[in-house]
Amino acid sequence: MTDDLAVLREMRDKALEGGGAQRIQDQHDKGKLTARERLSLLLDPGSFQEIGALATHDCTDFGMDKLRYPGDGVVCGFGKINGRRVAVFAHDFTVLGGSFSTVQSQKICRLQDLSLESGIPLIGLNDSGGARIQEGVRSLAAYGEVFTRNVLASGVVPQISVVLGPCAGGAAYSPALTDFVVMTRRTSSMFITGPEVIKVVTGEDVTGADLGGSVVHNSRSGVAHLMAEDDPQALELVKLLLGYLPQNNTEDPPQVAPYDPADRMDEELNHVVPERDDVPYDMKEVLTRVFDRDSFLEVSPYYARNAITGFARLDGWPVGLVANQPAHLAGALDIDSSDKIARFVRICDAFNVPVVTFVDTPGYLPGIDQEHYGVIRHGAKVIYAYCEATIPKVSIVTRKAMGGAYLAMSSKQMRSDLAFAWPTAQIAVMGADGAVRVLHRRALLAAPEAERPALEAKFTREYGLLFLNPYRAADVGQIDEVIEPRETRPRLVRAMEVLRTKVQQNPPKKHGLMPV
Ligand code: HXC
Repeated sequence: MTDDLAVLREMRDKALEGGGAQRIQDQHDKGKLTARERLSLLLDPGSFQEIGALATHDCTDFGMDKLRYPGDGVVCGFGKINGRRVAVFAHDFTVLGGSFSTVQSQKICRLQDLSLESGIPLIGLNDSGGARIQEGVRSLAAYGEVFTRNVLASGVVPQISVVLGPCAGGAAYSPALTDFVVMTRRTSSMFITGPEVIKVVTGEDVTGADLGGSVVHNSRSGVAHLMAEDDPQALELVKLLLGYLPQNNTEDPPQVAPYDPADRMDEELNHVVPERDDVPYDMKEVLTRVFDRDSFLEVSPYYARNAITGFARLDGWPVGLVANQPAHLAGALDIDSSDKIARFVRICDAFNVPVVTFVDTPGYLPGIDQEHYGVIRHGAKVIYAYCEATIPKVSIVTRKAMGGAYLAMSSKQMRSDLAFAWPTAQIAVMGADGAVRVLHRRALLAAPEAERPALEAKFTREYGLLFLNPYRAADVGQIDEVIEPRETRPRLVRAMEVLRTKVQQNPPKKHGLMPV
């Protein structure tokens, strides 16, 4: 027995060493932590329960029989984050570049199965050179097993990917199939084909960072949703994010003890919207004043900045926030912001997080590129996501809600439960300038040229008085109540109290056909 224990301990110690001291030093020199260091920062102390620590590959090609490391380049297991159970894997880049093998796949798949069966979130810490070249097609098939489980778990348990190093080829697709991707600013990258291959195939010169770095994926491609300065901050973001999500789709997200008075009014809100309707303001100021103090976590803050998505708390309960951002592109909806909103609403719906929508948009963005690249299809995703969602949905029109964008942004007709408007709201088919030119074109043309500006101003004034207010919509029941901006928080708290037990179902079907 003593000998047996000694063997076990020796193997365990070897597993803890990863690729050895020099490679650990290399990892640190690159500004990255090792897999085990990352896990110890992420998980509650002493909570990690490892599985598959002694597994090794059986590949013999390319001298691989001499390169066997216990664990085979991925550390897998269970642990707790703030007392909540999670399943987690972490690529060990110090072992064969974290490259993905059949054994890695078996370990991760086992974890995915257990996470799904037990209904607990799955977190992946990615740092991998992609499919292990020495294993050939076997490593491709191995990825397929992981992807399948990512898809089956989608919408059942939260899946969060943290990209902390290179994620090449197949290593990029698994994160792309998960709900949230967090990347470190300088040390991470994701691409399907790397700079060298691109150079050969297309002749283009590009660096890894410019091709698939964190800034690119957070601001241009939309593949990543959060950016961190370094490994510790990325892991903190995971903990924050998890705080707004339930363990699985059968549970409600966790409430924290309320710490901000539910009936708190904010006088400043009465002055946020500028007098002139063409002057921008920062919608984030509205959000931070309405929801629980310091509870706002923006998701995708650098991508499609004309829309805001994120989580916050209201009286301690997590809510999803969607808003137009008048400070960027006047808050118009375009292709990217439509994708961003639709995806976020669907995530909230999958995980029982109510959505509050703040509306100030002049409509869908006009433009040839927008039309040619499919703003109709992408814009339809917003409508689809809101209509399909059965979670509590409340909207507040702060200023413009024009045309199709009024409908798309959580209007009552899109199965919103309650619709509020501030007195500054303008709910109409279109803005005054466009409407006057259509309605009064003949009268304006008939008038002497010198009189046209005054006549146009008169028509615009008349249109504004008639249509650019919330009262017509309130009159016909499209708005439930016009409220003072300062009372938005207490109104929302009461609305959510009522809606917390809402039950709504969609017709049975295999799945809908979202316009992807
Ligand atoms: C086997 C790999 C590997 C891989 C890296 N290594 N990637 N071994 N298979 N895919 C090994 C290296 O040989 C090296 O071993 C060690 O890991 C560290 O790698 P370095 O290159 O020294 O590190 P670095 O300079 O930081 O560069 C990291 C990297 C680079 C950017 C990831 O290694 C790289 O470009 N790798 C290949 C990436 C790639 O094209 N993957 C796509 C695979 S195809 P030694 O012993 O020399 O230190 C794929 C398709 C799946 O994934 C499709 C599914 C749908």
